Amino acid sequence: MSNIQSNSRIGIFGFGCVGQGLYDVLQTIEQAGIEVAGICVKDKEKPRSLPASTFTYNPQDLLQDESITIFAELISDADEAYSIVTQALKAGKTIVSANKKMLASHLPELIELQHNYNGTLLYEAAVGGSIPIIRTLESYYSSEPLQQVSGILNGSSNFILSKMESEGLSYSLALQQAQELGFAETDPTLDVGGFDSVNKLCLITAHAFGLTITPEQILRFGIDTVRKEDLEFAKTINARVRLVASAEVNPEDELSLRVLPTLVTDQKELYHVTNETNGVTIDPVFAGQQFIKGLGAGSRPTGSAVWADVSAALSGYRYSYPKTAVKTIALNQDKKIDIYLRCPADSSLPEANWENLVKVQETGEAIYFTAILPVSELQNISSYLAGKQIFIAEITAEQAMDIALKFSENEAVVYS
Ligand SMILES: NC(=O)c1ccc[n+]([C@@H]2O[C@H](COP(=O)([O-])OP(=O)(O)OC[C@H]3O[C@@H](n4cnc5c(N)ncnc54)[C@H](OP(=O)(O)O)[C@@H]3O)[C@@H](O)[C@H]2O)c1
Repeated sequence: MSNIQSNSRIGIFGFGCVGQGLYDVLQTIEQAGIEVAGICVKDKEKPRSLPASTFTYNPQDLLQDESITIFAELISDADEAYSIVTQALKAGKTIVSANKKMLASHLPELIELQHNYNGTLLYEAAVGGSIPIIRTLESYYSSEPLQQVSGILNGSSNFILSKMESEGLSYSLALQQAQELGFAETDPTLDVGGFDSVNKLCLITAHAFGLTITPEQILRFGIDTVRKEDLEFAKTINARVRLVASAEVNPEDELSLRVLPTLVTDQKELYHVTNETNGVTIDPVFAGQQFIKGLGAGSRPTGSAVWADVSAALSGYRYSYPKTAVKTIALNQDKKIDIYLRCPADSSLPEANWENLVKVQETGEAIYFTAILPVSELQNISSYLAGKQIFIAEITAEQAMDIALKFSENEAVVYS
């Protein structure tokens, strides 16, 4: 912080949850020494907590202001955010963003712009809210290979799963509660559909493994088809349902990426991550497993992450994407994974190269299976499964054996 010039001026885009959080942090930290040059918002009719002279409705008023040292892009409109960030980078400016959707969709281009115009773009707040995961991967683990990074990256989904479990709420009631408390949007698709976690996993992958991946390349299942029966099933093997985003490298340097509901056992740190909290496990080759947990969203936690980027950028910090230079890792989605499936009684499983497809339980409402399938095959049948309301969750091979043993008295049927 001591390196920050005391005459730094910041232009802020957005004054919602995150923008106000940053403003709050800047006002509270005396040493910040940063003057807010102006705040760009959209709605002229909205009542504001600051004098009208603080605000502008034209992004160019900030972008063209040569007295501004640094920008913070904290708006909810991904297209406008892209326009603001690219314009700032083309002018060789420094900008901090929290917009994971925009960043994940345009990352290769944004990295190139930084390089070509000598600008700086940081985005810690876009992944895991207050958890310092990007900088940990980028800086601390810049030269140590990683085997896996996996985590709970979406607070809304985790809140819903936690409430269903701790209070026995149905999925729709838990979702309603999340919306009432401001943990989920009116349209919750991005969160419960797994899209938000996919976007964050794209950013993690660039820093942890040096690959820039498009969101469409990542296998994605959400929690929107989860039912209380799945949580009860998980409990029989001392597990909880969690929406886990994971990037995992095998000994052949092949990277598998997926966002999947997962039956996490009580031996794992992620089991204990509840409500809106986020948590990330890092598996470096030499250091041994590490785990970071913290508030994944909210005004002050996210404002804190933006401030961390602002102060670092003002001290000259920028991402170097160190793993990109050592590009030995390639994406391979042929990894076979064990899964649990609950298929409503009036649906059936699609044709696929199922391995070890075992019917473990049948009730009037649903049939429960375990099976093994490559990630790429799951990708191919994902729309079918979602359309038929078939819930799937990743399990480990040990859990599959545990399930087979537990339900053997039900005469598990091996299909293939
Ligand atoms: N909320 C979180 O905890 C959190 C955590 C991590 C990352 N993020 C990300 O941070 C960003 C902001 O989220 P938020 O929760 O703060 O959103 P928010 O509360 O909905 O506030 C959005 C702000 O963006 C402004 N805005 C929207 N479109 C604009 C446009 N075209 N031009 C100028 N201003 C515009 C809005 O202006 P008005 O005030 O005029 O409506 C508002 O001030 C998003 O990308 C989000 O994904 C949020």
